[in-house]
Formats: sequence, structure tokens, C-alpha cells
Amino acid sequence: MALRIGVINQKGGVGKTTISNALAYEFANQLGLKTLLIDFDPQASQTILMNLNPDDFSDSNQPNISRIFEKEMIEPINIIPNLDFIPSNTQLSRQSEKAVVGKDKMLEKFLKKIESNYNVIIIDSNPSFSSLMTNVVLASNILVVPIGTSALDEAGTHGFFQIIEEIADVYEKIPEKIFVIPTKFDKRRRDDREVLSIFKNELPLYIKTLDNLQETEFEVLNPIPERAVIKDASASRMFLKEYIETYEKAQREVGLIFEEIAQKLIQEVAK
Ligand SMILES: Nc1ncnc2c1ncn2[C@@H]1O[C@H](COP(=O)(O)OP(=O)(O)O)[C@@H](O)[C@H]1O
Ligand SMILES: [Mg+2]
Repeated sequence: MALRIGVINQKGGVGKTTISNALAYEFANQLGLKTLLIDFDPQASQTILMNLNPDDFSDSNQPNISRIFEKEMIEPINIIPNLDFIPSNTQLSRQSEKAVVGKDKMLEKFLKKIESNYNVIIIDSNPSFSSLMTNVVLASNILVVPIGTSALDEAGTHGFFQIIEEIADVYEKIPEKIFVIPTKFDKRRRDDREVLSIFKNELPLYIKTLDNLQETEFEVLNPIPERAVIKDASASRMFLKEYIETYEKAQREVGLIFEEIAQKLIQEVAK
């Protein structure tokens, strides 16, 4: 069975797409694992980051993750050795709003069909509470939750985990492990330091008060700093590490941060 990693948060701009992209590169290129990355956001940022045009995937003979709601097989696109990708576009929101029996389980059902081809599957989630997010929670065994380290990003964190616990309750499926990744951290800002301390010290205690997450392992990883090179790499539509090797060799330590996260997650495959 493949390790299925859902990268989720109901807020946009916190680094879900960036982290999914960098982890996919680590797993496929650095660790040589058969990896599938899925764009599960109708806004299709990951598809654009892959240098693909979301509009090119509207015809029924094209791969598009929205086809899961039509119970169709989807042929992933090979991007680099070991890395396959399934794009998205606005059809995903339209399809997910239709009355389909069991629609919250369509991603899980689809992954069961293809997961034997992969060691790792990464799902880049959309930023809202919806059937799409429920699909990601039910299809994943590990949840990676990037949260920004500004006070505004921190607000709503409890509400977010309450929803995860509600999904666990209703569907009787407990996430095995949740990793929180504090993102866009600026250690010079007092606000950021305070929020980081809340994540490290208070959030794990709060999670323990949620009935259905008692059995879930919960870990807060080291923060990802706010760095221009991360934004520049995505603006150039390049994998972060390739961008660093091409233009910013002095920033190699930023690449190492994602290497460390990938190593951490891969320990779960070995289990
Ligand atoms: N650690 C970081 N430092 C600087 N910019 C970042 C960082 N993480 C993400 N970004 C930038 O912030 C924007 C939003 O990130 P993205 O990964 O698309 O968030 P999400 O998928 O959660 O909406 C992108 O332009 C991205 O390059
Ligand atoms: Mg995104």
C-alpha cells in the first residue's frame, strides 16, 4: 500500500502547493520512490506549477482529477523519472457539487485502484471546508497541515482540527498521523515567534482534548522560513531544488529544509 499524504488547510496561501511540490521532488528525484502528485484544487496552482495549462484538460479523453466523480480511470502524466502527476481545473468544483452517491469517498476509491503502482501519493488540497477536503482526509493516512505563523493564520486553527475530528467521527476513520508545519516563519517578527510557541506548546494539548484524535500521533515540525527564493522558484515554475541549483546555489540550505521533512515522512513508509 502506498503512503498517502494529504496536504491540507482551509486557508489559501499557507504553502500547501509549495510543500506538495517540493516533497514530490524529494521523494521521486532524491529518494527514488515511485511518486504520484495529485492537484486536488480547482484553482489548479499545482498544474500551473508543472508548466501545464489547466484549460488543456477539459476534454473527456484528458487526465483530470475531477473524473473521479464519474468513476473513470485516469491515466497520470509522467513529469520526471519516478514522478507522475494528475492535473486539475475548475471542473473539479463543478463535479464535486453534483449529487453523486458517496461523493466524499471518490478519491479514496480511486486511489485504491492505482496505489499499487506507487510508493507515495501526495494530494495537494483545496483551501475550503467542502466535500473536496473530506475526500482528502478520507483518502490519506497521513495529514500534513501547513499553517502560517502570523496571528491571523493561527486564528481558526482549533476550528480546523474540530472539522478533522468530526470527519473522523462521522466516517469512523482516524488519521494515523498529523504533522503540522509552521510556514512563512520570520524569526525577527515577535508575532511569528509567539504563534510558533503556541503551535509547539499549546496545540498538541488541544488536539488531545478532541475525542476522535486521541489515537492520532501528532507532531509539530520545524518551521519553514519565509524566503524569497521559495517564491521565485514557484514564479519560475521550477522545482525549488532545481531553481536553487540553477540560480541560487547560496540558498542550498532552504532546499535542505524540505529534504528533512521528506525524510521525516518517509519513516512512515518503513513502518
Ligand atoms: N516559505 C515561504 N517563503 C516565501 N514564499 C512562500 C513560502 N511558502 C509559500 N510561498 C509563496 O506563497 C504563495 C502561496 O503559496 P502556496 O504554496 O501556493 O499556498 P497554498 O497552496 O496554501 O495556497 C506562493 O507564491 C508561494 O511561492
Ligand atoms: Mg495551493
